Amino acid sequence: MTHIAVLPGDGIGPEVAAQAIRVLDALGIDHSEHAFGGNAILAQGTPLPDETLVVCQASDGVLLAAVGLPELEGKPIRPEQGLLGLRKALGVYANLRPAQAEGIDMLIVRELVGGLYFGAKGTREDGTWFDTCEYTRPEVERIAVRGFELARERGGKLTSVDKVNVMHTSRLWRDVVTEMGAERYPDVPLAHALVDSFAMTIVQAPETIDVVLTENTFGDILSDVAAAVTGGLGLAASASLGDEGPGIFEPVHGSAPQIAGQGIANPAAMLRSTAMLLAHSLGRPGDAEALDAAVTSALAESPTPDLGGTATTADFGDAVLRVLDRSPSL
Ligand SMILES: NC(=O)c1ccc[n+]([C@@H]2O[C@H](COP(=O)([O-])OP(=O)(O)OC[C@H]3O[C@@H](n4cnc5c(N)ncnc54)[C@H](O)[C@@H]3O)[C@@H](O)[C@H]2O)c1
Repeated sequence: MTHIAVLPGDGIGPEVAAQAIRVLDALGIDHSEHAFGGNAILAQGTPLPDETLVVCQASDGVLLAAVGLPELEGKPIRPEQGLLGLRKALGVYANLRPAQAEGIDMLIVRELVGGLYFGAKGTREDGTWFDTCEYTRPEVERIAVRGFELARERGGKLTSVDKVNVMHTSRLWRDVVTEMGAERYPDVPLAHALVDSFAMTIVQAPETIDVVLTENTFGDILSDVAAAVTGGLGLAASASLGDEGPGIFEPVHGSAPQIAGQGIANPAAMLRSTAMLLAHSLGRPGDAEALDAAVTSALAESPTPDLGGTATTADFGDAVLRVLDRSPSL
């Protein structure tokens, strides 16, 4: 039986997760909630308790809201260590971040477990601090397969973003992607772009962009730029996928401690992440589309304060469920 592990986390996490749970219930999808993040550190001394990890590993997908508690910032054990630990344990190397708005429909495919964030780092005796950007051919190949396959599915084009004029690892990246394009995906239009000018393209001509393939650090930054261009953090969803096993579906935003407990957080990103779960892990593309459409309509009908409206988190969830009820695919 299909089972989803829900990790509400900290701050506004439980508030937005509650709306996703209402949708899972409406679709008859079995789920359970588990401790994760800052609250898990306070209660159990670890952000990723063993019990949580075991349930996640045995699930069909992990729906994660947000982690982060101000009182734990700068402490040796931090909520974000739980995020990295979970990604590593589930082997999710492909981070998909769609950015949509009127006339804009881009999908950033970011490599998630290599590059600068995972290479050797340290401090030398001479006082130099360093981080190292490292990639192997198989690491580039497997994320490139994702990018090409997604572009092919969408009937679209792929833009691979690197910094080949300066970085050694970008030469490997460009060679591998170029070879794969010629040999395995000749039907997918492929372009290459340098990260600095591509950041400008996201701001100035986002409607010209389709699927973007890029390494970890560039993807981290570019996908926040894309989120800003298409309506802000409250709307941005993500999926992190491996080759097998459950994926992790989560909003891009954090735990927003300033507005936690007020019932005014925007659950759109969480609900869009739930739609990605339906599409990518549960084989329910019709329900995913219906949920996305319901979120779009709720954004117009019941905007939360971050979007200039007065709807509460629960009002927004009500609006989504009202539209879903009318949806023929349910
Ligand atoms: N993946 C994650 O869980 C994740 C991601 C980013 C930050 N964090 C953590 O979250 C905490 C706060 O970080 P931050 O303030 O830099 O980022 P944040 O995303 O929590 O908040 C940034 C701004 O956006 C607003 N915001 C974010 N989500 C919103 C929503 N759904 N509805 C309405 N407004 C929303 C916040 O009020 C704030 O003004 C920190 O502890 C940080 O480490 C966690």
